[in-house]
Amino acid sequence: MSKPIIGIMVHRKGLSFSEPKYFRDLSRAGERLGADVFLFSPADINLKARQIRGFTAKDDGSWSHRMYPWPQIVIDRYRRPGNDYMKIRTSSLFRYANNRFTNKWRITRMFMQESKLARWMPETIEYSGAGLNQMLKKHSLLYIKPGNGTGGSSIVRLKRTKAGYAILGRSRTLTKINRHFASFAELKGWLDQWTVKQSIRNGAFMIQQGVDLSLVEGRVTDARLLIQKTETGVWDITGMGMRIGAVGSSTSNLHGGGKAASFESVVEKRFGSEKAAEIRKECHELARTIVQVIESHFDPMMEFGIDIGIDVQGRVWLIEVNPKPGRELFKSIGDSSLYRKTVERPIQYAMYLARKQKQQS
Ligand SMILES: Nc1ncnc2c1ncn2[C@@H]1O[C@H](COP(=O)(O)OP(=O)(O)OP(=O)(O)O)[C@@H](O)[C@H]1O
Ligand SMILES: [Mg+2]
Repeated sequence: MSKPIIGIMVHRKGLSFSEPKYFRDLSRAGERLGADVFLFSPADINLKARQIRGFTAKDDGSWSHRMYPWPQIVIDRYRRPGNDYMKIRTSSLFRYANNRFTNKWRITRMFMQESKLARWMPETIEYSGAGLNQMLKKHSLLYIKPGNGTGGSSIVRLKRTKAGYAILGRSRTLTKINRHFASFAELKGWLDQWTVKQSIRNGAFMIQQGVDLSLVEGRVTDARLLIQKTETGVWDITGMGMRIGAVGSSTSNLHGGGKAASFESVVEKRFGSEKAAEIRKECHELARTIVQVIESHFDPMMEFGIDIGIDVQGRVWLIEVNPKPGRELFKSIGDSSLYRKTVERPIQYAMYLARKQKQQS
């Protein structure tokens, strides 16, 4: 039987790949699992010859390339916006394991309209001066973040204090921001400008109810759950871990100096094992409901990294859904068989799709 051919569309500049460690591991997993897996960028596609220049990782970590036949299934791991990419992605050239998704603000709005998800959703509105005023009347803690951002950039936390308003966060280039305003007018003046200056491709900013995530004293700590399709095409929760933010940071992001930890080491320590088991169960229920809701609006998906907030009372909140999730957290926790599973599953699912496609044709 011939091997299934699976292409992984990525960003590449020369031999510099956007996520080299993960891509090497994917390439090796393909070999181990008996598939022809290669990486390619939009520039590697030869439409006329219906061939693609594909890259694989050699044992010493360097890359080799050759021409491959057309892939049966493509996994899209391209994480930067760009015209070349969009042209390919919106065409019908390939069949994808992960279909197209949307941005943070649109998905948040969609989730807010789902009654099944209501109990997990922090209140969120589009940024405006009047909206800010309204939200501050209801919540003493707010997050203001781009509706189409990632990586913790351009996110600020706003705290209502006795002396006025405190802002803590990071700019688009991840420079720290720490400001105080005595009056609402000053705060609004600064935020009006900031949300325009920091806007990504003219996207809107959102104002979100802030949740107290200081499970570890003085640090923003949240959970990241990975849910993936398996080799038989069904959703399964691969794992969950915690990110513990740096002291003085308003987000838990690893790039901002956050640390990885196991769920147990944080949640059990804080709430005891019984309550921790309940919280875990609720996080799983949240994740399963999320993928069900998403697939009722979009074409089939492959995996999601779900950022979940667990507040100091043990309540569970949805923070964000990532359609192209990183694996760094699972690698840093040090459970190598879990990390391996997070890498193998996309390949196994793509192999399942390729087999199914063959049976149908
Ligand atoms: N409403 C909120 N309440 C409390 N903390 C929040 C809230 N929104 C965001 N955060 C904190 O900020 C972090 C980053 O927010 P979010 O996930 O929305 O942005 P991001 O830029 O996509 O980050 P990443 O790409 O790392 O997932 C969260 O993981 C959480 O620690
Ligand atoms: Mg996030």
